[in-house]
Amino acid sequence: MMLKKIKNMIAQKRNSGNRFIKLSVSVLTHIYHMPRFVKRICFDPDFRYVRIMRLFHPNLVHQTTPVTCSNRYPEVFIECLGYFAGTENIRILSFGCSTGEEVLTLREYFPHATIVGADINKRSLKTCRKLPVDEKISFVYSTPKNLKELGTFDAIFCMAVFQRTPHHIANAGITDISELYPFDKFEKQIVFLRDMINPQGLLIVHFAQYSLADTCAASGFKAYGNCTQITYGLPVFDKNCKLIEDAPPFHSIYIKV
Ligand SMILES: C[S@@+](CC[C@H](N)C(=O)[O-])C[C@H]1O[C@@H](n2cnc3c(N)ncnc32)[C@H](O)[C@@H]1O
Repeated sequence: MMLKKIKNMIAQKRNSGNRFIKLSVSVLTHIYHMPRFVKRICFDPDFRYVRIMRLFHPNLVHQTTPVTCSNRYPEVFIECLGYFAGTENIRILSFGCSTGEEVLTLREYFPHATIVGADINKRSLKTCRKLPVDEKISFVYSTPKNLKELGTFDAIFCMAVFQRTPHHIANAGITDISELYPFDKFEKQIVFLRDMINPQGLLIVHFAQYSLADTCAASGFKAYGNCTQITYGLPVFDKNCKLIEDAPPFHSIYIKV
C-alpha cells in the first residue's frame, strides 16, 4: 500500500517542468526497475531481442512489440483485394511482418502474389523462416539496403508498425511523443517506402500514431476506399508530435499517384 503510494507520487512528478525533479524521477525509476530488467534480459529471449534491436538500430525501429495474429484486419485486406481485382501476379511487401501470420493471411487473400515479409526483429524472422510457405513467399531482414534490393511492389502493408508503446502512452496520458517516437522517423520511413511502390500501387498505413496525410509525401498519394483506423482506439498525434483530441480516424489505404 505504502509502496503503491510512493510509486504514484513519483509517477506524477515524471512530467514535472523542473529538470532536477525529472532527472531524479528518472534515476529512481531505473533503480526500481533494474532487478526485473536484468532478470528479463537473462531469461526472456523475446525481451532480449527487442532490447538488442533498439540498441543497435535506434533510428530504424518503429513499434518494438511483435504482437500479431492471423487475419487481423479483414476489412483492409478485402478493400485491397477489390482494388487489385483482375490483377493476379502482384508483388506485396509486408513491412513489419513479425512472426509471419500477416504474410500467411495475405497469401489467403492473394493466392498468386509474390509476397515478401520484412522485419527488423531477428527472433521473429527465425520463426517466419520455419513456416511452411510456397516458393513465392520470402522473408528479409529489414535494413534500408536489403529493402532496396527487393525492387518495387504493388502494395506495401504497414500494419501496427508506425507506433511506439501506444498503450503505455494512453495509460500515462502522454500528450507529446517527440521523445518516444518522433514524427520525423515516421515521415522518413514513408518517403523511403513511397519510392518502393509502383505507380498506382498501394501504401497501407494502418494502426499508426501518425497520419500519412501529414507527411511531405502526402501529395504523391490519393486516399482509396473507406478504411480508416476507427477501431484503433489509442491516442494519435500531429506532425508536431502533439496529441490530437477528437480527431476523425486516420485514413488507411493510399494509392501512389
Ligand atoms: C505489432 S507488430 C505488427 C505485426 C503485424 N504487422 C500485425 O499488424 O499484426 C510490429 C512489428 O514491426 C516491426 N518493426 C519495427 N520497426 C521495423 C522496421 N524498421 N522494419 C521492419 N519491421 C519493423 C517489429 O519488429 C514488429 O514485429
